[in-house]
Amino acid sequence: MLKVENLVKIFSSEDNKVTAVDGVSLEVPNGVFSTIVGKSGSGKSTLLSLLGALDKPSSGKIEVDGEEVTKMRDSKLIKYRRDKIGFIFQNYNLIPNLTALENVMIPMEFAGISKTKRIKRAEELLDEVGLNSSKQNRRPSRLSGGEQQRVAIARALANKPKLILADEPTGNLDSATGKIIIDLLHDLARRENTTILAVTHDIGIAKQAKITFTLRDGKLVNQPV
Ligand SMILES: Nc1ncnc2c1ncn2[C@@H]1O[C@H](COP(=O)(O)OP(=O)(O)OP(=O)(O)O)[C@@H](O)[C@H]1O
Ligand SMILES: [Mg+2]
Repeated sequence: MLKVENLVKIFSSEDNKVTAVDGVSLEVPNGVFSTIVGKSGSGKSTLLSLLGALDKPSSGKIEVDGEEVTKMRDSKLIKYRRDKIGFIFQNYNLIPNLTALENVMIPMEFAGISKTKRIKRAEELLDEVGLNSSKQNRRPSRLSGGEQQRVAIARALANKPKLILADEPTGNLDSATGKIIIDLLHDLARRENTTILAVTHDIGIAKQAKITFTLRDGKLVNQPV
């Protein structure tokens, strides 16, 4: 369960002040696939980075899995990001000189899992997202965009996160491949009981989600974009 109460993020410099997230409150139950829509600059990426503890809110409360993230000290936040959160980005963000398998193994290495176990789980995850074994030892440059995103999804799942945050996961894919990736995320949310929050510009994708949040100027609104 993800619970957000009155979250605010203000970016201020000497001559400028932007309230990127302006009093957002929301809830997403476990195992639910939800989306965030909104125009460019409405605060979608900022909201995700607050939820994933990549950045700190100006005020408000974030609770994941019964734990209050906004109260954690920095050392605990590092563990939170590593153990509870999986990130998926538009540009896949894979490490280019590592194979698909090695990319998926990285978060487990940080979590101190033995090499034998890392290899086994990485193979299982790549099988699960539909990347067959002949492609598991390829570097990202030899995989299609859709295949690279499958690797990124497997990597996000590596440490069994409670919450997966995806920022336009299908932004670089054609609509048919995008749909396959979204169906995969949907399925994983259910099977792994993981909460998924995905930013999308694609209204078709937003319609498939159980819950859709619309942001406008940092505020949640009820109407579509
Ligand atoms: N690090 C930052 N410093 C100052 N302002 C920022 C920073 N990051 C984002 N902003 C501002 O906060 C607002 C929200 O930005 P954000 O990136 O969250 O929008 P978005 O909804 O993800 O847009 P897009 O669809 O283009 O990705 C914008 O006005 C942006 O300029
Ligand atoms: Mg963005």
